[in-house]
Amino acid sequence: MNARPPLALATDERLIFALDVPGRAQALEWIDRLGDSVRFYKIGMELLASGEYFQVLDDLAARNKRVFVDLKFFDIPATVAGVVRGLGRWPVSYCTIHGWHPAMMQAAAEANAGSDMRLLAVTVLTSMDAGDLRSMGIAGEPEAVVLERARAAQAARIDGVICSGLEAGPIRRALGGGFSIVCPGIRPGGPAGDDQKRSVGVAQAFADGADAIVVGRPIRRADDPRAAAQAIQHEIAVALGQ
Ligand code: C5P
Repeated sequence: MNARPPLALATDERLIFALDVPGRAQALEWIDRLGDSVRFYKIGMELLASGEYFQVLDDLAARNKRVFVDLKFFDIPATVAGVVRGLGRWPVSYCTIHGWHPAMMQAAAEANAGSDMRLLAVTVLTSMDAGDLRSMGIAGEPEAVVLERARAAQAARIDGVICSGLEAGPIRRALGGGFSIVCPGIRPGGPAGDDQKRSVGVAQAFADGADAIVVGRPIRRADDPRAAAQAIQHEIAVALGQ
């Protein structure tokens, strides 16, 4: 049983742009530059450090954009419950917590019961491979670890997970359609030789059952970011047969 149904996302809300910028001025420039090509924004730790995080959250909401708060909370259950309860009062569509500790996830899910915000558990960061897991004392291939954490998240009534597109298929098959799968580490032009180690392309993520993808640098670093976002939107629509 899931906490509630997945968000009813329009096709063009399935691209989530990672607004990894140092402050509000740059955030507003990107929102203007991308215009209608992006309707869903992820705001994370870099922006948090500016002191302007919640202003940008309000800026996005005022422009009818969906907001994903990606601060990957991980603490004792009572503390995580507290931040989730507080964020649920803001116009937030997705919020991440780490998917390591079942009691923490349960407390977060309970604290979020009265809000429309969906909680996503981070399974294994897409920047990590099996060697990284081993060096952290975690045995097993990423796929097995991700699947185990996704099952634990669903059991704790968390709404979905963050995982690589490489694991979207196994999770969808194991956990069914009512569980949200959001995939970062997307590289539309193939691996970019950066810090993302478990990357897939746009079409593969959706063919394997992703609800949405997170894309940052492939759009931010494009010669024409708006055209890059539009191309990804087109690829999503084709992948979904629309
Ligand atoms: O620039 P790039 O497309 O790699 O951005 C990916 C974004 O997704 C970053 O903001 C990163 O923090 C986030 N993310 C991730 N892997 C996760 C969870 C979040 O890359 N497992």
